Parts: sequence; C-alpha cells; structure tokens
Amino acid sequence: MKKMATAGVLLMLALGMTACGGQTAKKPISSDDEVKAALQSRCVMCHGAELKGTGPNPDLTTVGSRLSKEQIKEVLQKGRNGMPGGLVKPEELEVVASYLAKQK
Ligand code: HEC
Repeated sequence: MKKMATAGVLLMLALGMTACGGQTAKKPISSDDEVKAALQSRCVMCHGAELKGTGPNPDLTTVGSRLSKEQIKEVLQKGRNGMPGGLVKPEELEVVASYLAKQK
C-alpha cells in the first residue's frame, strides 16, 4: 500500500515536471519588456523601427490614445485593411493588447 502511494507521488512529480518543461520551452510572453521585444521583432517590417509608424502603417507608440484595449484586440484578431489579423497568438492577445493600450 505504502509502495503504491510513493509510486503515485513519483508519477505526479514526473507529470508536473513535464508540464513545467513544456511551459519553459514556449512560455507565453508576459512582462512589458517581453511584449515590447516580441512586437519589435514581429511588427517592425510594417510599423517601422521603434514601431513609430511609416507611411500607411500607424504609429504604435501612441495607439492607446486612439483605440481602446478592446478595439486593439479586434484589430489584432481580425486585421483591418493593410493590417493582417492573427499575427498575435490567442494566448498572447490579452497581454499584447494591454501593453498597446498603455502606449499613449
Ligand atoms: C503587413 C504589414 C503589417 C504588419 C506585419 C503589422 N501591421 Fe499593424 N497595421 C498595418 C497597417 C497598414 C495598419 C493600418 C490599417 C488601417 O489603415 O486600417 C495597421 C494597424 C495596426 C493597429 C491599429 C493602429 C491604429 O492606430 O488604428 C494596431 C494596433 C496594429 N497594427 C498592431 C500591429 C502589431 C502588434 C503587429 C505585430 C504583431 C502588427 N500590427 C503588424 C500593417 C501591418
């Protein structure tokens, strides 16, 4: 009986470790710095260096003064005119939209 309980604990530990391992591999971005870095690498080709906008691509460093967080989420999910939707992963949408909504 005692042996089985130990095996159970070991199994739980093993599963727990696998779950954590998987998370470190592709941990969702969370801090402002991580979001900023991710956006700088993924969005610069259109929104320009420092995301300050170029030509038809709006300045993302002031987007919070134009759009609410909900509106930003919608643009990121569905796209709008020249802006492709779906660039931000669903699990990152919340944190990216919060970050952008703060850029005023
Ligand atoms: C293929 C070029 C392209 C890429 C890549 C791109 N954007 Fe855009 N984005 C645009 C264009 C063009 C618009 C303006 C759309 C319009 O006029 O309606 C826009 C608009 C936006 C807006 C709304 C701005 C406003 O003031 O209304 C947000 C927010 C935005 N982009 C975020 C992002 C983020 C975050 C990324 C990176 C994950 C990204 N974009 C990548 C082209 C791009």
